[in-house]
Amino acid sequence: MVLATEENIQKAADVLRRGGVAAFPTETVYGLGASAFNRAAVARVFELKKRPSFDPLIVHIGSLSMLESAANLEALKNENRKLLEKLIQNLWPGPLTIVLPKKNEIPDVVTSGLDSVAVRFPKNEIAQKLILLTGDPLAAPSANPFGRLSPTRAAHVSAYFPAGVDIILDGGKTDVGLESTVLDLSSGAPRVLREGGVPQEEIERFTGKMTSRALNSPMEAEGGAFKTPGALKIHYAPKTVFKLHEAGAMLKEPFSPSKAYLFYSFENLRLYAKKNGLKINENELPAHERLWALCGGAGEPSCREAAAALFDVLHMMDALDALEIHAEKAPPDGLGPAINDRLFKAAGSVLEA
Ligand code: TXA
Ligand code: MG
Repeated sequence: MVLATEENIQKAADVLRRGGVAAFPTETVYGLGASAFNRAAVARVFELKKRPSFDPLIVHIGSLSMLESAANLEALKNENRKLLEKLIQNLWPGPLTIVLPKKNEIPDVVTSGLDSVAVRFPKNEIAQKLILLTGDPLAAPSANPFGRLSPTRAAHVSAYFPAGVDIILDGGKTDVGLESTVLDLSSGAPRVLREGGVPQEEIERFTGKMTSRALNSPMEAEGGAFKTPGALKIHYAPKTVFKLHEAGAMLKEPFSPSKAYLFYSFENLRLYAKKNGLKINENELPAHERLWALCGGAGEPSCREAAAALFDVLHMMDALDALEIHAEKAPPDGLGPAINDRLFKAAGSVLEA
């Protein structure tokens, strides 16, 4: 793990150009990158992550001029091409991944044989510099072993991969904290395949109302053929047994010292502590070893704050010696649905009463 100085970004670009694998920060979560044109390097990313080969990777570009090295815009329907322009103008660079028709030059190993490619232009400057210095778009999934919590710090990546990653650039904690929103424009009407860093409402300013939100269980919804293979039910799972409650319902749970509790707001944490006679320290994090909150410590709860804290807090809670983690859902607007999607998956889709 090295600090993301100019010199080390250059080193990482050299590693990538020689066919190596580099972990780097983006504004969402850390990525595990390889040159999208290097089949062997991309195969190593799959191998390191133990990711099934049917789950395609996102291709990251460092400037708009790189877009056409990955996507075949000629093959886009006219309406979708216009929409793409608006989305690019307003939301790129940023936490929005757009699925587009694929250029032949992008090898099948990247897209798991699909004729579409997911493209993302990250806002993080370290990521942009790294891609531009490498000169190729980077195929990069989140830098966690398949099925584990996404990394929001370089230290998470080095703990996950003590060997095998050629260089890990440390750019501090990521800002958004949730993976990008994945929007499919490759054919037909635009559709959100994964909720993430850009709330669906924000995309709908350009697309108009989209009929359905991303499906938590596309396998069921589409009769076994899932559209975004990464959207499996159990994903981002902590090692500790994880139970999810409807908003507010966790307040009724009796306190057990062998469990840890994750509240959406600090206000709920405070209420719960009072109800159960637990002493909390308002000026420390966590306020109580067993009680955690995603947001609202110093003021109004905000979804952005909660999203940014989510994986970070889950990593810390997973490292406690608790037998179970109980969490409550976020309110259903803004980034709430994306947060709830991650919580839902961490719980393996089991919702407690
Ligand atoms: O924020 C992010 O998106 C992070 C950072 C590193 O950029 N990356 C990330 O990648 O979350 P990953 O591999 O963990 O998730 C990529 C998602 C998966 O759900 C995958 O199935 C979907 O994008 N995807 C990739 N290519 C696709 C395609 N051609 N069609 C449909 N879904 C695709
Ligand atoms: Mg991932």
